[in-house]
Amino acid sequence: MFEPEPNNGHTENDDKRPRPRLGFLGVGWIGQHRLKSIAEARHAEIVGLADLNPGVVAAAALEVPGADVRESLEQLLLMDLDGIVIATPTALHAEQAIAALDANMAVFCQKPLARTERETQSVIDAARRADRLLGVDMSYRFVRGVREIKERIDAGAIGDLYAMDLVFHNAYGPDKSWYYDPKLAGGGCLIDLGIHLVDLALWMTRANFTEVSSRLYAQGKPIGPEAHRLEDYVTARLGLDSGATANLVCSWHLNAGADAVIGASFYGTKGGLSLRNVNGSFYDFIAEEFIGTERKVIATPPDSWGGRAVVDWAGRLAESRAFDPAIESAAAVARVIDAIYQRNE
Ligand SMILES: NC(=O)c1ccc[n+]([C@@H]2O[C@H](COP(=O)([O-])OP(=O)(O)OC[C@H]3O[C@@H](n4cnc5c(N)ncnc54)[C@H](O)[C@@H]3O)[C@@H](O)[C@H]2O)c1
Repeated sequence: MFEPEPNNGHTENDDKRPRPRLGFLGVGWIGQHRLKSIAEARHAEIVGLADLNPGVVAAAALEVPGADVRESLEQLLLMDLDGIVIATPTALHAEQAIAALDANMAVFCQKPLARTERETQSVIDAARRADRLLGVDMSYRFVRGVREIKERIDAGAIGDLYAMDLVFHNAYGPDKSWYYDPKLAGGGCLIDLGIHLVDLALWMTRANFTEVSSRLYAQGKPIGPEAHRLEDYVTARLGLDSGATANLVCSWHLNAGADAVIGASFYGTKGGLSLRNVNGSFYDFIAEEFIGTERKVIATPPDSWGGRAVVDWAGRLAESRAFDPAIESAAAVARVIDAIYQRNE
């Protein structure tokens, strides 16, 4: 059974290992959350910070009094760092990650790693070239209920997994203007929220997609693959080479009757497994196991999962800075995102 790490992953042995020296680039909403998680877990030492916004970086600096505040990525790269944690607007990720990797630093980047498969692959290639650890914040993989589901699927508990229903509606939509600028955001609700659903479908099945059909909307009207329009509702069906089918729906600003509707259900020949958010929460999830018409709860809140991906990356970095080919999954996800957008690159 999956147990969250005690004390957010910190163990006594961590104090004896040399701790990786990290810089944080972009300490806005998510950057500051991840910074607190690393500071609490103590796998790594936060020695440098940079953000375009002086007020934002000053607030983050209060969390890590010993850290140097630098003006830019270039300034951070001059420091003696083992790794950089990137949490800037999406369109900047690829270029910034490649610059850090080319300077022989490991990278943990917010999702999406990049806007397209081609761009994603170029970051992965840079990590392989530098032989440096590259991680991306697919944070939902670390929700306790998701881990319970993954363990059961891997153990064959639901037989052959053949159907998935995945949904992520954020009824508020993002509250920052850059998310609505296609040049900075790289897309709308699909690249923001749907990416988590695509990642879960591929990760649970260990499969690749063979076919995709999709429909994108903006303010209630179907739209094509125009780069200047941002989708706020997407429905897609993925056929996988395992034989499984995944139905995905995601949106911003849907009249959803709750702040958020988040769910991931997996159906096999012997049973089902399902995760859903509780009372419209973005953070609280229940996971259940189904057999026929019966159901059993396998995970409940509270569960502070948000920082686990970055803490896991920092723990792995403390062991080895070397490239981990598992990051290729980010290119597989980006390939599906391109296909749902009906992009012909
Ligand atoms: N893993 C997840 O589940 C998850 C959740 C939320 C957001 N995200 C991702 O995190 C990223 C950031 O989102 P956010 O909501 O925290 O945005 P945000 O606007 O709150 O933070 C971005 C920060 O980057 C700074 N910045 C912009 N350009 C910069 C530059 N060139 N150099 C240094 N700093 C720069 C901004 O000043 C800002 O403080 C996005 O890519 C988003 O998709 C991931």
